[in-house]
Amino acid sequence: MEKIIIFDTTLRDGEQAPGASLNPQQKLEIAFALEKLGVDVIEAGFPIASSGDFQAVKNISAKIKKSAICGLARCLKPDIIAAHKALRGAGHPRIHLFLATSKIHLKYKFKKAEDEILTLAKDAIRIARKLCPDIEFSPEDATRSERDFIYRIVEMAINEGARTINIPDTVGYSYPQEIYSLITDIRNNVSNIEKAVLAIHCHDDLGLSTANSLSAILAGARQVHCTINGIGERAGNAALEEVVMALKTRKDVFGDFFTQINTKEIYRTSRLVSNLTDFVVPPNKAIVGRNAFRHESGIHQDAVLKKRSTYEIMDPHDVGISSSQLVLGKHSGRHAFGDRLKHMGFNLGQKQLNQAFTRFKDVADKKKDIYDDDLRIIVQDEIRLIRPVWKLESFEVASGTKIKPYASVILDKKGKLLSGSSGGDGPVDACFKALEKITNFKAKLEDFRLEAVTSGKDALGQVSLKLKVSGLIVNGRGSSTDIVEAAVRAYIDAVNKLET
Ligand code: KIV
Ligand code: ZN
Repeated sequence: MEKIIIFDTTLRDGEQAPGASLNPQQKLEIAFALEKLGVDVIEAGFPIASSGDFQAVKNISAKIKKSAICGLARCLKPDIIAAHKALRGAGHPRIHLFLATSKIHLKYKFKKAEDEILTLAKDAIRIARKLCPDIEFSPEDATRSERDFIYRIVEMAINEGARTINIPDTVGYSYPQEIYSLITDIRNNVSNIEKAVLAIHCHDDLGLSTANSLSAILAGARQVHCTINGIGERAGNAALEEVVMALKTRKDVFGDFFTQINTKEIYRTSRLVSNLTDFVVPPNKAIVGRNAFRHESGIHQDAVLKKRSTYEIMDPHDVGISSSQLVLGKHSGRHAFGDRLKHMGFNLGQKQLNQAFTRFKDVADKKKDIYDDDLRIIVQDEIRLIRPVWKLESFEVASGTKIKPYASVILDKKGKLLSGSSGGDGPVDACFKALEKITNFKAKLEDFRLEAVTSGKDALGQVSLKLKVSGLIVNGRGSSTDIVEAAVRAYIDAVNKLET
């Protein structure tokens, strides 16, 4: 069997998704989850892009030992130096160089001829190769580039010491047969191709990224670039969970291949990434969506009870979805709470554990049965920000058909209590206006979503929102059995991000 190397770019291309920015601490947390998931390479960031990115790659390099850590760089010396410096602590560092090769990019982006691009790439690979033995090279927009130029630049890159050649479908334009023939043609026309691993990097603009990645594997690619939940630039990248589960489930087609992904970690990692990036996983998302293993039709339910495989091609346990079993209630102690969290893969420090426990007790007072999904939300809510500037102390709302909605809110700002009140069009609007008065941020609500985390009348509601403050979009999330409180918490979460 041949191994398919899983290259996860959630922290780089995934973070390029509009509005998905993560701080270095959150990136580290995701990197731990990716390591536990078993990804071979973590693309941790683009070190030259910002000091936050540099720091994140540096922290991840220092802490993650099993996966290789990769930093992205343009074919420019300062980029390469920054990547090298950020990766210094890594057990297995990799520098990923990229340079566009399509005519449209050469003409409009660079105003350069093919030979100039070739020289730039060659010089960059030489510099990088001296600093790091593991170099990956990507001819950006490869799927829209002239074949002959791709062969030339790939051959040169391998001659200069690139160990991996990645073929990006940068704009998500290709369809599976095209990818198959591109990879086949590269294998047949690049004389030294056997000295490198061929990789594929697909975007999802036409919804074909997973199909294209699988097609590349059939044609000879042995590394796949992907992201958790498929997040990424524009419509996103190929979703790790889809590629991995397709390889596992369709043994009739992909029986010659394996990955070292521990699929039981998929669901947990998906929820963590969704929570920290504020990208809600659509209910119908393959593998990790809330409905991915739910059967609504009576005919389906009946058949599944008789024989699961009548309507289920995968076992939800294989991706780490447990049938929401009852875990804890209001009488559960700190010890049982901590144990359950450990079992779910959370490793909290004492302070975070105490904070999460207090919140758990709060929720358990209002909600009788606490399920794993509830716990995950409670904990992730509490550990989102290390030192939040604003904390909810209390709030009150009055609302009804015959009265004008009115809210009073008290926040704790670094130990000092501040209060504000306001009327509004509804209870949530009144709370947000009160919060605006206290925090002094002029915020416009751009998006507001509410979903139930578990089922039942006392389900935990989760609010995800987007605020626009001085042209900047910030996401926020909050949860509670009370949906107004969930909205207040989401608003405070967003405002806290403005303070960091
Ligand atoms: O989509 C793309 O081309 C990229 C490159 C940097 C590999 O993300
Ligand atoms: Zn990309």
